[in-house]
Amino acid sequence: MNKRTLDAVNNQIQAEFQSAYIYLSMSAIFEDMKMSGAANWMRIQWQEETAHAMKLFDHLIRRGQAPDLQSITAPDVTFESALDAFEQVLEHERHVTRLIHSLYEVAVEEKDYALQTLLHWYIDEQVEEEENAEAIIDSLRLAGSSGQGLFMVDRELGLRTPEAEGEE
Ligand code: FEO
Repeated sequence: MNKRTLDAVNNQIQAEFQSAYIYLSMSAIFEDMKMSGAANWMRIQWQEETAHAMKLFDHLIRRGQAPDLQSITAPDVTFESALDAFEQVLEHERHVTRLIHSLYEVAVEEKDYALQTLLHWYIDEQVEEEENAEAIIDSLRLAGSSGQGLFMVDRELGLRTPEAEGEE
């Protein structure tokens, strides 16, 4: 793996851990708002993002490269409502999708076929991540300001369970 590709993978590992940290922060805020279902959803998202980082980390190890971990900054997260929070999730996931596509372009330009194959999984995963956020936004829009509606969405979010290994 050449330096350009290695640097790009290390940057993506940082972005995935940073994403995990943002979602853990959102989980803490939802706990404080007594929305335990949304807090659960965010906590599982934290686990998923950590798994995304580790999949790249392990790829480097398997290729005989030492991952170079970078700083993660304190998340600067605030939101006015659950809808606001999930709109931020969607924006963030769109940002991550762009990062994954840029990383894929590096893998293509540098003819790193093994990395390209690995990144196919991430490209599919980003479609799912954006789709999930959009579905929750739709539900929250339907619920509007109805306490009962929000209660039901929160209960639904509380049903999310960690995905099996390899399905993150
Ligand atoms: Fe790892 Fe949510 O992208």
